[in-house]
Amino acid sequence: AEKTIGILVGSLRKESFSKKTANFLIANAPSGYTFELIEIGQLSMYNQDFDEEGSPAEYKPFRDKIKSLAGVIFITPEYNRSVPAVLKNALDVGSRPYGSSSWDGKPALVISTSISNISGFGANHHLRQSLVFLNMPTLQQPEVYIANIQNLFDDEGHLNSEETSKFLKDVLAAFKAFAAKF
Ligand code: FNR
Repeated sequence: AEKTIGILVGSLRKESFSKKTANFLIANAPSGYTFELIEIGQLSMYNQDFDEEGSPAEYKPFRDKIKSLAGVIFITPEYNRSVPAVLKNALDVGSRPYGSSSWDGKPALVISTSISNISGFGANHHLRQSLVFLNMPTLQQPEVYIANIQNLFDDEGHLNSEETSKFLKDVLAAFKAFAAKF
């Protein structure tokens, strides 16, 4: 059976370069795996009271979907040198109620994107820190920092850099081998 890897994108923007990167990965999913984009923009802001009083309707299908995955790929821009709130909120929603985190043990891949040279280093590493606490074994190498991403896509949203295309395919091969261990 095909295993499903979820892709979470840390940007809701229609023309998001991170989303375009997700589309490239989906089109290049390794054999034996289906890559599925998991929406996070519909998740209300997490409030710990929900754990006692009942959660917004959209939380359960999100948590169930995450629990069903064989692994998770995060593709995120950097907002103010850290993880965009929409992605952090999704991590928080999936992590609760206490003791039934949907993320527990899922192998993860972190990709940061940026329109600058610094390539989202801050977001990449802050995200990795949360994944430590969430007990998600995370691919260490290759690290994936995509700088100056605005130069890598054509007008139709296709990746038009041979170098980045090859790199991302190599990353997926490494992640496939890594994820198979869990
Ligand atoms: C940014 N951007 C940005 N870029 C960066 O490299 N480091 C940063 O700290 C920030 N901070 C930041 C804050 C906010 C609120 C916004 C809206 C943007 C720029 C960012 O790289 C750029 O908008 C990307 O295009 C966002 O990624 P998507 O939406 O194209 O995936």
